[in-house]
Amino acid sequence: MSEHPSLEQLSSIVDDLAEQGWSLQPGFITQCLTLELAQECRKRAAQGALVPASIGRGQGQAVQEGIRGDHIQWLEPGQSPACDQYLSTLDALRSVINQGLYLGLEDYESHFALYPPGAFYKKHLDRFRDDDRRAVSVVLYLNPDWQAEEGGELRLHLPDGQVRDVPPQAATLVVFLSADMPHEVLPAQRERLSLTGWFRRRGESVL
Ligand code: OGA
Ligand code: MN
Repeated sequence: MSEHPSLEQLSSIVDDLAEQGWSLQPGFITQCLTLELAQECRKRAAQGALVPASIGRGQGQAVQEGIRGDHIQWLEPGQSPACDQYLSTLDALRSVINQGLYLGLEDYESHFALYPPGAFYKKHLDRFRDDDRRAVSVVLYLNPDWQAEEGGELRLHLPDGQVRDVPPQAATLVVFLSADMPHEVLPAQRERLSLTGWFRRRGESVL
């Protein structure tokens, strides 16, 4: 089993969330696991398992490429050793966040996302109007040797009005409080892979 990430690294994410509402962790998982996850994503894409992502929920759900143009597939436990290893790492992160911030995070949902060249996701919050369970957003990037000129940054709109652009470099993890952080995905020149997910609270939680 990999010893990576360390408890110190997980704790630093909690400190960042408490202090600034977001955390950036380059090299969060090993290059080897990153590569396996990228291969798994490409395999699913080649099998036609990734579908155009929709926005909204329930009856209001719709595919709108003018808002988001990625293709996704939801992750389930038991599909591949690499995915299971990542899920168990995120479960460790979930309990460290719960111990530090008392958020009462109960579960984690995530999907692979593939943005074809030119695709983007306009500025949004990771919350549905009728469902406030998503509390913490977590994005892991799967793109080796990403170059600045290839674009595709995650643009975070910070509470102080500043923006922060994060290139989708392999093994970089970004974590932020879902309710407080509007963000967008800028168009990329190159195919852009990620594993995006959310820690959720109990259904009947109050804000
Ligand atoms: C999302 C999202 C960010 C990214 O899927 O909601 O904002 O960088 N993704 O892929
Ligand atoms: Mn989002």
